[in-house]
Amino acid sequence: MNVITGKRILLGITGSLGAYQAATIATKLVELGAIVDVFMTYSAKKLISPLIFQVITERHVYTDEEWWQINQKQFFHEKQYEADLLIIAPASGNTISKIANGISDNILVYTAMSVKCPIILVPDLDLMISDNFAMVENLEKLRSRGIQILMETDSKSKDKIIHVDEIIKFTRLFLSKNGPLQGKKIVVTVGATRESIDPVRVITNRSTGLQGWSIAQAALDAGARTILITTIHNKPVPYGTEVVKVDNAQEMKEAVLKEVIDADVLVMTAEVADFKPLNYSPHKLKKDDDLAMIELVPTDDILWHVAQQKSKSNYPKVTIGFASESQNLLENANIKLASKNLDFIVADHVTNFDENSETIFNRLTILYAGGEVEIIDDVAKSSIGFSIMERIEDLLL
Ligand code: CTP
Repeated sequence: MNVITGKRILLGITGSLGAYQAATIATKLVELGAIVDVFMTYSAKKLISPLIFQVITERHVYTDEEWWQINQKQFFHEKQYEADLLIIAPASGNTISKIANGISDNILVYTAMSVKCPIILVPDLDLMISDNFAMVENLEKLRSRGIQILMETDSKSKDKIIHVDEIIKFTRLFLSKNGPLQGKKIVVTVGATRESIDPVRVITNRSTGLQGWSIAQAALDAGARTILITTIHNKPVPYGTEVVKVDNAQEMKEAVLKEVIDADVLVMTAEVADFKPLNYSPHKLKKDDDLAMIELVPTDDILWHVAQQKSKSNYPKVTIGFASESQNLLENANIKLASKNLDFIVADHVTNFDENSETIFNRLTILYAGGEVEIIDDVAKSSIGFSIMERIEDLLL
C-alpha cells in the first residue's frame, strides 16, 4: 500500500529522444498500483509503439489519429476524466511551447489544457541545458500557472530526461501533499549510535534502521513534514525527508531536543547505545595496554529528557518508543512506557537477530499509556510504518 495505489494517472508522451524511458515510467506506476492512461503525440508514436504502453498499462492508448475522428469535448465528458495527476514525460520543446501558448492542436496539448488535476512536466534533458530564451520564458509561464517542472540537477547525466526513479519519487511525494497528516511535523530517529573508544573503535549495535525508514516513508505518504535524525549515512533516505546526521547518543539527544520543540510526533526507533567510554582516546589504544579495561559510563536516556522538556512545553504532542526484549516482554515494555512517559510503545520479542534479512515480526505488541494492549501479527519490518502511522493518526486527529 502506498499513496500511488489506486490513483488515476495520465501519462503524456511527446516526440523526444527520451520517449523510450516513458515505458519504464508507466511500468513503475503500474507496479505501484496506479491506473495509467497514456496519451501520445504523433511524433512520440514515431519513436515508440503505442502497443508497448497498451501491454504495460492493460488499457487503451490514446493517439492523435483517433483524436481527430472523435468529438473531443464529448470524449472528456463521457470519460468523466477525474484524473489525479497528469505527468508529461518526456516533454519536448514543441509541446512545452504549445501548452505555454495555448496552441491546442493535438491530443496531448488538449488534454493538458482540459484537465483539472495537477500537472508534472519533465522536460527533455537537451532542453534543460539549453538557455534558449523562448524555452526559459515558456517554462517560467508554466511554472507561474502552477505546473510542476521537474528538472535534472546533475548536468553530467547521460539520460535523456531526469532519472525515472526521481520522477516516481517526486510523484509519490507530490501525491501525498494533501494527506491526513499535512501540516504536521514528525521526527523519526533511526540507526545505531556509535560511541567512540578511539579513532578506530566504537561501541555500537546491530540495528539496520529498516523500521525507521519505513516509518519515515509512511509519514511522508501521509503528508507530514518528516525529519529523520539518523546515524546511517550511506543509504538514500526516503525522498522528501529532512535529514539530520548524527553519530553518538549525545549528538542524537541534542538533535532530538531541538527538533521536538515544535513537533507533533517523535518516533524513537533508534537503538541508542546504553554505555559510552568515560574517556575518548585520541590515539589508537593498544590491546596489550589499555583496551581490556575501558571504563564505561551510561549515556543519557533521550526519551527521559524529551519527557522533561515536554512537561514544560507540551511538545512533542505524541511520543512513541520501541522496545526489543528477549524476556518478560510485557513487563519490561510497560516499565519503559511509564518511565519514558510515552503515548505508546511498540514491543517485539527478539529471538533470532539476523541483521541482513528483511525480518517479518511474528508478533508486535503495542502498549498504550491508557493501559490497552494491541497485537499485530505477521508484519514485515519494511511495512511497519503504515501500521504505526494509522495509530498516530488516531491519536492526533
Ligand atoms: N532510548 C533512548 N535513550 C537511550 C536508550 C534508549 O531514548 N539512551 C529509547 C529507544 O530509542 C527506544 C526506547 O528508549 O525507543 C527503549 O529502548 P531500549 O534500548 O529497549 O531500552 P533501554 O531504556 O535502553 O533499556 P534496556 O536496554 O535496559 O532494555
